[in-house]
Amino acid sequence: MSQLDLAVVLAAGEGQRMKSALPKVLHSIAGRSLLEHVMVAVSDLAPREIRVVVGAHKDLVTEVIREKFPEVESVFQEVRGGTGHALRLALEGRELSGDVLVCAGDTPLLTAQSLNELLSHHRESRANATVLTAEVPEPYGYGRVIRQADGSLLRIVEESDATEEERKTLEINSGVYLFSGAKLKNALTELRKDNSQNEEYLTDLIEIIRNRDGGVGTYLIDDFTEILGVNDKSQLAECAAIMRDRINHALMLSGVVIVDPLTTWIDLSVEVDIDVRIEPGTSIAGQSIIESGSIIGPRTTLIDVKVGKNASVIESYCLKSEIGDGAKIGPYSHLREGSLIASSARVGSFVELKNASIGMGSKVPHLSYVGDAIIGVESNIGAGAIFVNYDGVEKHQTNVGDHVRIGSDSMLIAPITIGDGAYTGAGSVITEDVPAGALGIGRAKHVNILGWVAKKRKGSKSAKAAEKREG
Ligand code: UD1
Ligand code: CA
Repeated sequence: MSQLDLAVVLAAGEGQRMKSALPKVLHSIAGRSLLEHVMVAVSDLAPREIRVVVGAHKDLVTEVIREKFPEVESVFQEVRGGTGHALRLALEGRELSGDVLVCAGDTPLLTAQSLNELLSHHRESRANATVLTAEVPEPYGYGRVIRQADGSLLRIVEESDATEEERKTLEINSGVYLFSGAKLKNALTELRKDNSQNEEYLTDLIEIIRNRDGGVGTYLIDDFTEILGVNDKSQLAECAAIMRDRINHALMLSGVVIVDPLTTWIDLSVEVDIDVRIEPGTSIAGQSIIESGSIIGPRTTLIDVKVGKNASVIESYCLKSEIGDGAKIGPYSHLREGSLIASSARVGSFVELKNASIGMGSKVPHLSYVGDAIIGVESNIGAGAIFVNYDGVEKHQTNVGDHVRIGSDSMLIAPITIGDGAYTGAGSVITEDVPAGALGIGRAKHVNILGWVAKKRKGSKSAKAAEKREG
């Protein structure tokens, strides 16, 4: 099959119905912008060139295109003259030597497979123009496919220009087309604005080519959800849910257990191995990788997190971190950027970590903050211990050796080093390095003042209770 000559993605619309400061095509689902979804599908056809028509928010949109698809050219449509006008601009100054694919930047569910099928069908039927169509239960708002009595394609009519009878048609125009480039060029010169929206309709090209050259047809897509477009935030959620179902379905078929697919949101970029178990209410985003046998969730968020084999992360929020084989995180842990949890280590409830490396088999089980620290192997950080890394101006580093026992409620005032095998006394404020094997204590010495309650709280319930004991 010869190479597709050109693909044009139309993305110059205002996207007003989104009611957003962000351009419509840059809203994302499953970790990718709407435009990126379309670009990825289109790129799969390996066209010689891709051009995107940009208009509203052109700088932002162009920047994203340049960053993610540097070889793609942006064409600026200054005034919104309609889809036909946008296509004409995209083709300006370019020789067309083969077929041209045209689609919109707001249909994120369209698959590369369907585009490939459309291309094959277009080529096999030697058509001059092929429209990707779908049968939908609710055609409102879409252009309708109008056929002749013999079933052949006559034209496409927009909702606002259609007759009552035409509106009853359930076969709609998806907004995706393949054209023979030479025929397209000629047809574009005949576009007029004589319609209800006073715009040049791309859809009119079908009737124009039909009358000039013939050879116009359709390719009906099986799954109509693929052509759903995003115009407002409700449709954004609808498309996101369909994408979620697709991703979860594929993961489950590949061997992942997803207990509640409806509340499990996984980005396309995430890798999940077989026999991972994902509990309800879990989101996994970005460049996350989950290796086999691990349990994630319930109610856990992982963003750019790598989890090794047979680990568990329960009721936790983790960002840009690594969790080793067999490590146990949560419930209620907060791993901030740069947390490295070695294998078999444990981070427990109400523990916050930042830029901290927890060595193999070490534990931070309860109520701690560990920031800017390196902890060796098999050390234990007692409940409520705080790594005091910030002096109000700068952040400082704490190093804890191997087999260390940090007493509960210790404050380790950084910069500080606790040597291998050292202990700190519970409740200590540790301001100096503790050498290997030493016990560091930094607190007032405990004293008992006997009879204090009887003297100072005479007649109180405490005094009476004490009196009974003392006999
Ligand atoms: C269009 C089709 C309709 C089809 C529907 C499918 C036309 C006239 N109608 O309608 O038959 O059923 O898509 O979703 O083509 N755009 C520009 N410049 C413009 C106008 C639009 O770049 O001047 C872009 C938009 O950003 C969008 C795409 O073209 O990505 C489609 O435009 P939109 O206004 O959404 O067309 P629809 O009314 O949805
Ligand atoms: Ca649209």
